[in-house]
Amino acid sequence: MAERIVTMTVNGKRRKLLVNPGDTLLTVLRDGCGLTGTHHGCGEGSCGACTVLLDDKAVVSCLVLAQTIEGASVQTIEGLGTPEALHPLQQAFMDHFAAQCGACTPGMINAALALLKRNTAPSRDEVIEAISGNVCRCTGYAPIVDAIMASLDAAGAVANE
Ligand code: FES
Ligand code: FES
Repeated sequence: MAERIVTMTVNGKRRKLLVNPGDTLLTVLRDGCGLTGTHHGCGEGSCGACTVLLDDKAVVSCLVLAQTIEGASVQTIEGLGTPEALHPLQQAFMDHFAAQCGACTPGMINAALALLKRNTAPSRDEVIEAISGNVCRCTGYAPIVDAIMASLDAAGAVANE
């Protein structure tokens, strides 16, 4: 494979991006689109910091080769709320002190959002399962699960908008 143009929709906007064969979706989002809210943690699929939504499913973007997702729809943390109007999940993370250093936060929120897109009323166990691939070294996880559970009514209502 050679360098080529890949078209994808990123946060609702159609983008044509020049992609090298080995470029991951993580690299393209951060370096090609300037969307640095998608964090680069381990770079090998084990921390979840780079989690984004790919066609409404949570994926670790460091393991997705960008040339393989022609025509796909990608959502990053920048595609959720704004500072003036936070997404309910973002607001709940603030209210429950679920974001401390913030390294895991975008990936956690995207993992939760992917769950809410397929199940607007998950149990606490289903929430725990949904974020099981996302590592947090700060919170002990309970505040994160509390935040997601607290956001269910509001976040579930907007998850499929
Ligand atoms: S940076 Fe992708 S899973 Fe860790
Ligand atoms: S808030 Fe620091 S890694 Fe989760």
